[in-house]
Parts: sequence; structure tokens; C-alpha cells
Amino acid sequence: MDLRTHYLGLPLKNPIVASASPLSHEIDSIRKLEDAGASAVVMYSLFEEQIDAESERLDYYLTVGADTNAEATTYFPDMGGYNVGPDQYLELIEKAKEAVDIPIIGSLNGVSSGGWTRYARLIEEAGADALELNIYYLPTDTHLSGADVEHMYLNVVADVRRHVDIPVAVKISPYFSSIAWMARRLAEEGADGLVLFNRFYQPDIDLANLEVTPALALSISHEMRLPLRWAAILYGRISGDLAITSGVHTEYDVLKAMMAGANVAMMASELLKNGVERIGEILGGMERWMQEYEYDSVAQMRGSMSQRNVEQPAAFERANYLKVLDSYRPAGPSMRI
Ligand SMILES: Cc1cc2nc3c(=O)[nH]c(=O)nc-3n(C[C@H](O)[C@H](O)[C@H](O)COP(=O)(O)O)c2cc1C
Repeated sequence: MDLRTHYLGLPLKNPIVASASPLSHEIDSIRKLEDAGASAVVMYSLFEEQIDAESERLDYYLTVGADTNAEATTYFPDMGGYNVGPDQYLELIEKAKEAVDIPIIGSLNGVSSGGWTRYARLIEEAGADALELNIYYLPTDTHLSGADVEHMYLNVVADVRRHVDIPVAVKISPYFSSIAWMARRLAEEGADGLVLFNRFYQPDIDLANLEVTPALALSISHEMRLPLRWAAILYGRISGDLAITSGVHTEYDVLKAMMAGANVAMMASELLKNGVERIGEILGGMERWMQEYEYDSVAQMRGSMSQRNVEQPAAFERANYLKVLDSYRPAGPSMRI
């Protein structure tokens, strides 16, 4: 069974890529991901705020002296538990490249154009095969228009693109007035691929302590429906590759991602919850399914259920909304409406 695919110009042995997560914190766990069958690893992110804080701290020490605490260290929430500084990040990429044979994709996470984007170059020099640029932005300014936000995205991509020769994928949110327009423009600005989509972690309210609390809940398969739909719509319409992230948990999820038109399916929650060995189980499940349904290769199924190729393309659009509403049937007598 031929599970090979390609993503960002990289030939991959199968479509399961380990998404950015704490699983890439240590060389050991990166090795385990490779042993388990991952075809590539996206490193956890280096954040714009970390890079800025680091240079502010350096400036402070150079100009004021090294024996006091730099103010910059307080700008950014302490990520000691999650993350290391920029230098160690680059070192980790170098070591990961030595330790494994699968491609290593660096990850930069930020929103503005500026000095921090030079880290894209440093990540390339550290040996990364590609870069994932995660633009995780929540516009709350009532004076900032949708067009302003879109330009901000495009500027960051252009900025990062200028710094590197390696392929760049952009991880975006689904919250645009026109995802299709945005996807095309990002590709025109130099994105070699789009990662659909960032999961936004919604804060909760702790009623007892009257605090807003961050809450990280792992995903469930159902969440894949959103990126699945957009991969199916964008397949064949933009020049870049497509990755699906959010809700990929089973072999069926990966198969659906391929049929929608994605080049790869990325996984984090499933591996964090049930172990990296899940990759091997899922690959085995894919092969069994493909055998039963007489597919020889992943290439053969790619895009077969995209909007371009299905008999009812409207199933991905507004018509589907009406159909879905109409399809509701009460579960039992007590649910009569
Ligand atoms: C604990 C944790 C840490 C994560 N860290 C990052 C990160 O550093 N950068 C990033 O782009 N995404 C990060 N993500 C998001 C994942 O890469 C992925 O896009 C998201 O979890 C959805 O995929 P899933 O449903 O397979 O979990 C993180 C997710 C989790 C659960």
C-alpha cells in the first residue's frame, strides 16, 4: 500500500505529521514520534513575544548593567513550563535534525511585521526543512477593520518570506469574512501551504475565585469538520499545499482529510492523550481500509471528495445548511416540536 504524499515540496512516507505540541520539546520524544511512524514533525512554536522580550532584555543588560532584573522579562507570561528561549529553540532544531531522518518543520508564532521575523532565517540556518508560521491573532480593537487584519497577515507572511528560502506554511484561523480570498492572497504572498486551522482556546470564568481562567481542552474528531470543509473547497483553487489540523484522531479522519484534498493530516491531541503509538495503529487502520475499498495509494484518493470532484458541489455550501436543518428528526416522543 502506497501511503506516500508530499507537503511543502517535501516527499513524505505517509500523511501523518506531528503537529506543534509539547511532544517536540525533547529530542527523545521527537525520536519516539519518528519511531511511531510520523512522517514529519512540526516543532512547538517560538513566540514573537519571547523573541522581543529576549532582545529587550539583552538591550537592557548592555545599556544598564547585568545585575538588575530587566523589565522586559515581565512583559511576557512566564513560559518556563512550556517553552525555552530563542537560542535553545534553535539548538533543539539542530539536534533534532541530527537525531532523526524525517523532516523537521520549525514554528514561529506571531502577528506583526518586525525584527522578530529574522528568526525565520535563524530557524532555516539551524537546519529546519520548512517553517510553519502561526498567526494567532484575536482582533478586539473596534477601530480595526477586517481589511486591516487581512493586511497584517499578508505583511507578516511577506516579511517572513523575505528572510527564508525554505518552504513556508501559514497556520491561520477560520475567522475571516472570506477564507477563500485570504487563502489565495496568502499563497500569492509566498505561502507554500496553509494549515487549517488554529484552534482558539476560549477562556473560562472561575465563579468561586472570580477569575478568568485559561482552559486547554483537547480536541474531538467532530472539530475536523471545519478544516475538512475548507480543504475540500480550496483544493485545486490555490497554488499551495493544504494541511488539516484540529480533530484528527482516527484512520477515518486521516482518510477523509486526504479525500477532501489535504496533503497531510496533523495530530496533537490524540497523541498527547493516547500516546504516540497511535500513529502506527492509525497507519495500520488506513492500510486495512484502503485494501477493503481497493485503493492502492493515498495519491489516488487525494481530492476525490473535494468540491471540484463530488457530484454535488453545493453540499459544501449554503445549500448544505438548509439540507442539514431539514434533516433534523426528533430523537423521541418527548422531543416533539
Ligand atoms: C498542549 C498543546 C500545545 C500546543 N502548542 C502549539 C504551539 O506551540 N504552536 C502551534 O502552532 N500550535 C500548538 N498547538 C496546537 C496544535 O498544533 C494543533 O494545531 C491543535 O491542537 C489542533 O490539533 P489537534 O486536534 O490534533 O490537537 C498546541 C496544542 C496543544 C494541545
